[in-house]
Amino acid sequence: MLKIAILASGSGSNAQALIEHFAQSPWGRIEILVTNNPQAGVIQRAERLGVACKIFNPKTQCDEILLLLESSADIILLAGYLRKIPVNWTRAFEGRMFNIHPSLLPKFGGKDMYGRYVHEAVSAAGESVTGITVHHVNENYDDGAIVAQYEVEITPGEAPHSIEEKVRALELEYFGPTIESWIAQLNEQQWR
Ligand code: GRF
Repeated sequence: MLKIAILASGSGSNAQALIEHFAQSPWGRIEILVTNNPQAGVIQRAERLGVACKIFNPKTQCDEILLLLESSADIILLAGYLRKIPVNWTRAFEGRMFNIHPSLLPKFGGKDMYGRYVHEAVSAAGESVTGITVHHVNENYDDGAIVAQYEVEITPGEAPHSIEEKVRALELEYFGPTIESWIAQLNEQQWR
């Protein structure tokens, strides 16, 4: 069973879905949740669901937190984590760190493309399809190899909040299962 750490900065709906999903999974367990934001709603969610939570200051505690992550997790999931990941973290967890992005990358990705800014850009571009991307994390924003994408139809110019609702539903449904099947495949390869 793989040990999983979640990094999050916000309300934590994705983190909650991951915790609930892996509570029922034979492949992985959420061991710890780490946040840079002492006000984040995700802290209450983790406490309520019985997951250890660590709040840290990214300006002064990055090395300390990397040691904690290395000792407590096999893989890391970014679930609405808004800080840039330090290069020594991406190297230490190369191939074992994943992000969920609320668009069909490479469209609408990169620096400053997060949360509602993504949905505003999708709406303004008149797209008729959007979705989510689960991808590996490297040293550049939203740039790592894609693991899976899921699409949803939208009306060109649809309101950003309505797009957000549709995309959020995909995130909550698919992030956990996508990571679970990645872990299951890894195990299969090891047994071959
Ligand atoms: C989600 O839209 C996720 O795709 C993005 O940040 C948002 C996090 O929301 N990376 P929440 O904190 O999980 O509710």
